[in-house]
Amino acid sequence: MRRLPPVLLEDGCPRDLLSLVRTILAACKEISFRVGQGELSGVLGSTLDENIQGETQKKLDVLSNQLLKDILLESGYVKAIASEEEDYTVAGEPNAKYIVSFDPLDGSSNIDINSLVGTIFSIMEAPEGSDAADPSIFMQPGRKQVAAGYVLYGPSTMLALTTGKGTRLYTLDKTHGSFLLTQDFVSIPEETQEFAVNMSNQRHWQTPMQNYIADLLAGDTGPRAKNFNMRWIAAMVGDVHRVLSRGGIFTYPTDTKDPKKPNKLRLLYEANPMAFLVEQAGGLAIADGQPIMDIEPDAIHQRVEVILGSKNEVEKCLSYYK
Ligand code: AHG
Ligand code: MN
Ligand code: MN
Ligand code: MN
Repeated sequence: MRRLPPVLLEDGCPRDLLSLVRTILAACKEISFRVGQGELSGVLGSTLDENIQGETQKKLDVLSNQLLKDILLESGYVKAIASEEEDYTVAGEPNAKYIVSFDPLDGSSNIDINSLVGTIFSIMEAPEGSDAADPSIFMQPGRKQVAAGYVLYGPSTMLALTTGKGTRLYTLDKTHGSFLLTQDFVSIPEETQEFAVNMSNQRHWQTPMQNYIADLLAGDTGPRAKNFNMRWIAAMVGDVHRVLSRGGIFTYPTDTKDPKKPNKLRLLYEANPMAFLVEQAGGLAIADGQPIMDIEPDAIHQRVEVILGSKNEVEKCLSYYK
């Protein structure tokens, strides 16, 4: 099986970008180890703090953030970082080329039940001559990503990565610490009979989403004339990994539960990297009727609607909004 560096170099990936990805993966291997140790490494449970989004931080959210932040800022490859667990962007090497946005640990509510969690990251180039301390360097649409991926800490630790030349899956060989290519050129089936949504929010969704999901639930005697299965892992990394593995539609739609927070998922470090991976695998990733990666961000912790996955099913869902 092939290791990640030769695969990326063959694609024409610049050496400094490869080194940056490997820097991120070094932190992820450490996170993978701590997650695997569970109770034994004393990392389960919550801290007494909240992040800027009003969520209680888990110990593993804070630890994963610190590991990634330190290694990235010390690497010399990174001009600035933006993280779910940091209130503001943090400046790194003033002359460095890259900026990195990340969700250090996605699926926090799964930590204490020994269930799926992961790390999501997105890499862009900083504008020429820009100031490392200026947060507006992150205000670029997802189309500008030069690489994006996630590391899933499941029964095996897996990496999904794209540098714009398709999406590939790698599995961490824990005996020698290498990510080995285990699926070349992921292709999401265009048709599906599986959907993922937090059904408990149903009454808060907008009418088109209510109608769309109702038609899926109606099964083979309803307007779709087929039965749909439902899955919800409560960690976007897990749900998107299933979509990359066997297709499906995943959505966290706009809702009216909290008028101050109509959307849950964050554009820079959740929606954009997942959209890049999904589009590179032949799927679609939409928010408010437009491709997620075309959205011009206006804040680092901006939240967006997410509808992604199998092409024909996402299009079907969108047709309810017309
Ligand atoms: P995070 O743990 O990084 O804050 O993200 C959690 C997100 C996402 O991973 C998942 O799809 C969603 O929250 C789960 O939401 P519910 O609590 O509504 O199931
Ligand atoms: Mn969180
Ligand atoms: Mn998350
Ligand atoms: Mn998180």
